Amino acid sequence: MTADLIDGKAFAAGLRGRIAEQVAAMRQAHGITPGLAVVLVGEDPASAVYVRSKGRMTAEVGMQGFTHRLPNTTAQHDLLDLVARLNADAAVNGILVQLPLPAHLDEIAVINAIAPEKDVDGFTVLNAGRLATGQRAMVPCTPLGCLMLLRDRLGALAGRDALVIGRSNIVGKPMAQLLLSESATVTVAHSRTRDLPGLCRRAEIVVAAVGRPSFVQGSWIRPGATVIDVGINRTDEGLVGDVDFAAAREVAGAITPVPGGVGPMTIACLLANTLTATARVHGLPDPEGLTP
Ligand code: GUN
Repeated sequence: MTADLIDGKAFAAGLRGRIAEQVAAMRQAHGITPGLAVVLVGEDPASAVYVRSKGRMTAEVGMQGFTHRLPNTTAQHDLLDLVARLNADAAVNGILVQLPLPAHLDEIAVINAIAPEKDVDGFTVLNAGRLATGQRAMVPCTPLGCLMLLRDRLGALAGRDALVIGRSNIVGKPMAQLLLSESATVTVAHSRTRDLPGLCRRAEIVVAAVGRPSFVQGSWIRPGATVIDVGINRTDEGLVGDVDFAAAREVAGAITPVPGGVGPMTIACLLANTLTATARVHGLPDPEGLTP
């Protein structure tokens, strides 16, 4: 069997289209234009690429974008001052500080300085805690995008055996929380897990977020499983995911390609979160279909 491809690129384009419609409707009904501020410190080339495409897509859906580029040598207090100004700026509904920050900066302190209602990455402790306790939160963009793809493919996830490989605060942990709140049976595996192939063979859903090229073997995949590959690894052979795509594709029921799978969903979900944050701060109902 050859797995179906889960076309994240097409799904994300559709999602951005729905966001653009809701942005236009919000402007017409309430005179409000959502605003997203992106802060980039230093010259990391991959980060610069992300920030540029975030800026472009923000404009495409009719939102206001504010990009702040700061030098590598930026002091902690200057970055905190900028975050405080953005927190206080009514035109800014979402704030994203691009990670990683240069090593001399305290990433945790900077992230937690972001006002929780503007934390469109969902990285502050308050939003992480809200998600973990089933309260209304801002949800990290990549796991939110994975959840949308899984729901689109599988419908209800209740009772399904899901394996999340990776335990990062950005992807693995929030992904596990989201799947749990969908009543999936969730296992979180990581570098110290003993029998990863065995766990994988039981899973109807595999979300791979380990950051190691082609790490998940085709022979580990349960026939018919749905495989979501979050990895983006630059290798001599080009961009590859965390899953051995060619081998897994022969066994899985459905699989996301790299590129063109989860990647485009992350930015689309950032825009979704910005619209959600805007609606909430103005006391409007959550936008349709953009929240978990
Ligand atoms: N760096 C890589 N991905 C992300 C992301 O989703 N958010 C932030 N803030 N930084 C990142």
